[in-house]
Amino acid sequence: MPEQVAARFSDAALRYEQAARIQQQAAVCFDDWLAQLPLAAPNHIVEIGCGTGLLTRLLHARYQNALLYATDLAPAMLDFCRKSLPADTHLQFSLCDGRSAQFDPTPDWIVSTMCFQWFDPLPPVLARHADQCRVLAFSILLDGSFSDWRAAHQRAGIEPGLRPLPDYDALLQACANLGGKRVHAQRLTLTDLHADGRAFARSLRAIGADWPRVGHRPTNLRPVLRQLRDGVAANYEIGMLCVEM
Ligand SMILES: C[S@@+](CC[C@H](N)C(=O)[O-])C[C@H]1O[C@@H](n2cnc3c(N)ncnc32)[C@H](O)[C@@H]1O
Repeated sequence: MPEQVAARFSDAALRYEQAARIQQQAAVCFDDWLAQLPLAAPNHIVEIGCGTGLLTRLLHARYQNALLYATDLAPAMLDFCRKSLPADTHLQFSLCDGRSAQFDPTPDWIVSTMCFQWFDPLPPVLARHADQCRVLAFSILLDGSFSDWRAAHQRAGIEPGLRPLPDYDALLQACANLGGKRVHAQRLTLTDLHADGRAFARSLRAIGADWPRVGHRPTNLRPVLRQLRDGVAANYEIGMLCVEM
């Protein structure tokens, strides 16, 4: 399973940034949000699921004196990320599974954007990372996203192939349960317009994020696509969470 996820994202690496409009906006919002929180500046940051480096480049520009350790499961993603940044002794890259990684030395911050929705179950992963940093901060795709697509499926009596996404309130509770000093959280909605249902489905495939839910069997989508001929406003519900340990 991790191999298949890695292969899917690796296949997408070269075309990722042309298609990842929302991930780009999410990285900017997350970096800005993090910067205005009352946190001590980090000396050492680990990023999990860095992908092609949308957030990595922002962190590198903002925290120039910090050691920045970018990690991902997909070799081609990590390779793209490495090549998108200048040679700098403050930068390190490593392939690793962000669900089980143990970092040595432990960093000040562990951060991630638009990756933790792939981790199921997520709470044990949060607990593992919270134990090895001062600040655990991430943005994540939430339940309630892609409502046009889901509603069209419901009207057609078809269960969507999308994977289940975390619920915001449950996530807040999971963060509070980590026993840190403070939890900061904010929600935002970003919208991506697509010409039709097919274009929306293609956009997920283009970034390697079309991995279906467990048990999904491909089905005839014509009744769904017929309803979405005039366009899809794909809503991305995003949570930004930061736990100070
Ligand atoms: C939607 S992309 C987001 C990438 C980047 N953070 C961004 O915002 O553009 C999700 C990334 O998570 C990585 N990923 C998925 N499962 C992972 C895992 N178990 N460990 C580390 N990275 C993982 C994928 O390879 C992919 O690069």
